[in-house]
Amino acid sequence: MTSPTPRVVSGIQPSGTIHLGNYFGAIRQHIALQDTHPGDAFYFIADYHALTTVRDPAVLRAHVFDSALTYLALGLDPARATLFRQSDVPEVTELAWLLATVTGMGLLERAHSYKDKLANNITPSVGLFFYPVLMAADILAHDGTLVPVGKDQLQHVEMAQDMATHFNEAYGRDPPVLYRPEPLPAKAAVVPGLDGRKMSKSYDNSLLLFESGKPLRKRVGQIVTDSTPLGEPLPFATCNVVALLRLFCDDAELAAIETYYRDGRRDGAPFGYGHAKLLLAEKIEQHFAPARARREQLLTPAGRAEIEAVLARGATKARAVASATLARCRRACGLR
Ligand code: TRP
Repeated sequence: MTSPTPRVVSGIQPSGTIHLGNYFGAIRQHIALQDTHPGDAFYFIADYHALTTVRDPAVLRAHVFDSALTYLALGLDPARATLFRQSDVPEVTELAWLLATVTGMGLLERAHSYKDKLANNITPSVGLFFYPVLMAADILAHDGTLVPVGKDQLQHVEMAQDMATHFNEAYGRDPPVLYRPEPLPAKAAVVPGLDGRKMSKSYDNSLLLFESGKPLRKRVGQIVTDSTPLGEPLPFATCNVVALLRLFCDDAELAAIETYYRDGRRDGAPFGYGHAKLLLAEKIEQHFAPARARREQLLTPAGRAEIEAVLARGATKARAVASATLARCRRACGLR
C-alpha cells in the first residue's frame, strides 16, 4: 500500500560535528533526491530525538542551527525540498503515542541500537527506549514512503513498517490509515577516518566539512600511514589517504596518483605520504569551496534570517501533511 506520490522523508541528527562521513554517507544523497522527487523530499532536524543525548539547551540550539546551515550551504533547495525542525510539527509526538499503543514491548526490546547502548552501560531513559516509536511517527505522520537511511537505521525503518501494519490492522486496512514506508539504503561511500576506522564523531577521527587552509592540512596530516621512507614505492591499495582521495578524484586522476605511489616519484621528484596528503587537502578544499562561500553568506544577519524563514516555511508545509494524517488516525481509532 503506497501513497499516490512517493514521498521521501528522513531525519537529520543535529550532532554538531558534520564530517566527510556524514556528507558522503547521507547528506549528498538527501540533496540529490530533491532532483528526483521535487516537492516530495522532506527532511527534518531531529531535535526531539536529540534530547535523548543532549542536555544543554544552548548546545542543542547551536547544533540545530548548524545542521540547517550545512544542508543549505551544500545545496539543499527549499523550493524542491522541505527542511524543518522536527519539534515544529508536534503532531509527531501525538502519533508516537498512538503507535505506542499498538506496539509490543518485545519489538522495542529487540532494537539493536537500544541493545548496543545497554551493552555500553548507558542507563536508558524511557525516551531512549521509545526512540524507534518517535522515528516511526516521523515517517508515518508525513506519509513517508521512501526513507533514505544508513545501515544502522534500517531496523528502525522496519519497525516503522511493523507499526504501520499494526495500526492499520487495528483501525482500518481499506483504505489504509498509514502508508507503508520502504527504506532507501544509502549508496554510501565508505569513508575511513584518520585512523582507518569508519569516520565517526565518537572515534575523534573525523575530517570536518568546512575546514580549510592550515587547520585542514594539519588534520589531514594526522591520517595514519605506514613508515615507508620518502622516495620508496607506496602501497596504493591499502592506503587511507587513497581511500579518501577516491571520494574526490576521477579515474584519470586516480590512475596518475597510482603511478606516483608505484614509483615513489612524481615528475622525477620523490613522492611520499606528505605529498599525497597535500593533494587530498587541496581536493577537499576545492570540492567544498562553493559550499563554504554560501555558508559564509548564510552566517550574516540576513543569512540567519533566511535560514529561520526556510525552517518556518518548511514547518508550515510539513505540518499541513501531518495534521491531515493525524486527523485520519484520530477518526480511525475513535478519538473523534
Ligand atoms: N535516527 C536517525 C539517525 O540517527 C535520525 C532520524 C530520526 C530519522 N527520525 C527519522 C531518520 C526518521 C529517518 C526517518 O540518523
